[in-house]
Amino acid sequence: MERLKVVIGCDHGGFKLKQEINKMLEEKGYEFKDFGTFSEESVDYPAVALEVARAVRDGLYDRGILICGTGIGIGIAANKIQGIRAALCHDTFSAKASREHNNANILTMGERVIGPGLAKDIVNVWLETDFAGGRHARRVDMIKGMEISDEGIGN
Ligand code: RB5
Repeated sequence: MERLKVVIGCDHGGFKLKQEINKMLEEKGYEFKDFGTFSEESVDYPAVALEVARAVRDGLYDRGILICGTGIGIGIAANKIQGIRAALCHDTFSAKASREHNNANILTMGERVIGPGLAKDIVNVWLETDFAGGRHARRVDMIKGMEISDEGIGN
């Protein structure tokens, strides 16, 4: 597989976990870019989500990772951007399925919810799993259709 280009971002609630994930990505030799935030000073998570989501949507990066306190707000925000399928995963089963079934292009996690050990396992599984295609591709296409119009999906 070609080397994945990854972009990562967080708010103040996800800063410490982001640093841990960065360390791991570096050790594993992933090509990644950190869009911040770069301290525990309070920032608004929708702004970070927007930057990372746009970069993934525009194809500058293959995958994005977003971390806030819960992983919820930053994921809701990222999913407002057309073409983004952000998945909140706090276990490795969901992380794998979000890639195989949903072709998730952004992973979100909450620093206040899980520890760094599990978070690293989740990131590894998520980055290493491919989209399964087939019937799942039809369903992802239906989601893409809904981004254009909710008047009928898949056509
Ligand atoms: C920040 O306090 C917190 O609300 C944020 O990190 C996130 O959990 C929102 O969903």
